[in-house]
Amino acid sequence: MTPLRVGIVGAGYIARAHAIAYLATPAVDLVAIADTVPAKAGALAETVGAEPVDGLAALLARGVQAVSICTPSPTHADLAVEALEAGLHVLCEKPIARSLADAERIVAASAGAPGVLMVGHVSRFEPDHARAREVVATGGLGEIRMLSQSIVSSAPTWSEQGWLLDHGASGGPLIDLAIHSFDYLAWVCGHQPVRVQAIAAATVAGPDTYALATLRYANGAIGAVETSWGHPPAYGFHVATELNGSGGRLWWDYDGISAGRMATTGGEITRFDVLGQRGFQAEIEAFVAAARTGGPSPVPATEGMLALRTALAAERSIRTGQPVSLAEIE
Ligand SMILES: NC(=O)c1ccc[n+]([C@@H]2O[C@H](COP(=O)([O-])OP(=O)(O)OC[C@H]3O[C@@H](n4cnc5c(N)ncnc54)[C@H](O)[C@@H]3O)[C@@H](O)[C@H]2O)c1
Repeated sequence: MTPLRVGIVGAGYIARAHAIAYLATPAVDLVAIADTVPAKAGALAETVGAEPVDGLAALLARGVQAVSICTPSPTHADLAVEALEAGLHVLCEKPIARSLADAERIVAASAGAPGVLMVGHVSRFEPDHARAREVVATGGLGEIRMLSQSIVSSAPTWSEQGWLLDHGASGGPLIDLAIHSFDYLAWVCGHQPVRVQAIAAATVAGPDTYALATLRYANGAIGAVETSWGHPPAYGFHVATELNGSGGRLWWDYDGISAGRMATTGGEITRFDVLGQRGFQAEIEAFVAAARTGGPSPVPATEGMLALRTALAAERSIRTGQPVSLAEIE
């Protein structure tokens, strides 16, 4: 099989997970890694045996056929549109964009483009999450009635110039982290939410960095989403999910989805990064397979946009103190 020529834009935290997964995917040539900060492009490129470059244009010049967009969320739209217009297959990290207008630009660009456009909603590819969806879809829980997910962590301290902790840039944990839950629960439910109500509190990570949202889905099911950047660092990255139907209950719960921990005798607990070994590997393989066959997209942009719409509705509810109908979010 001719190797698929791939590039990555962004060489930060999540780019590393993409790079590791591409390396482990057969018939992929990870050609180059682009970052506006040369030292970051250089460090990641050296680790994975790729060429460091300074931006998307340099990737295009090297003839890449597919690209992962792993840059701050407000930059996704310009990069995705440029890559799609150049005929590339695009894997765009979640959230699809910071604003609905930007998400719509991406969807519009993909409509006439030859490449596959996929949004990196990695939860769908985590083995437990994927299996639970199969159980629900095949009637294993009867009629689905209640879905809840909590993903809580400490403040993300790694981002370039602290963009994640800047609410205007990232949207805080409601837009950046709970987006996983909004996408996943709608995918499992098989229906979109019609109404959302949310409240938030300040934590050490800043205003509105702990939030709770309740949702009503189109099929009458209800959902609850908890998100936080205010938990102590030693707490890890906790994920708890519960799905209830007329025929049963399914739940799972763990620390460390992106923070493996190691305790040595007499030493402190330290973390090691296990990103790239579970959901990311399956996500990248699904993207590469879709790029080879020309689609369909494993996670369509329209679904990424619906998850963003839900998160924006929750944000509005926090501001107004009122429930928000999804129809109000244009
Ligand atoms: N799927 C997940 O679980 C997950 C986890 C973390 C982050 N993310 C998402 O991934 C994206 C990146 O987040 P991160 O945590 O890796 O951020 P980061 O700050 O660690 O990395 C982003 C990198 O992009 C570079 N950059 C910015 N603009 C650029 C441009 N125009 N061209 C090239 N490089 C550019 C920055 O210099 C930085 O190195 C965000 O959208 C975030 O929401 C997803």
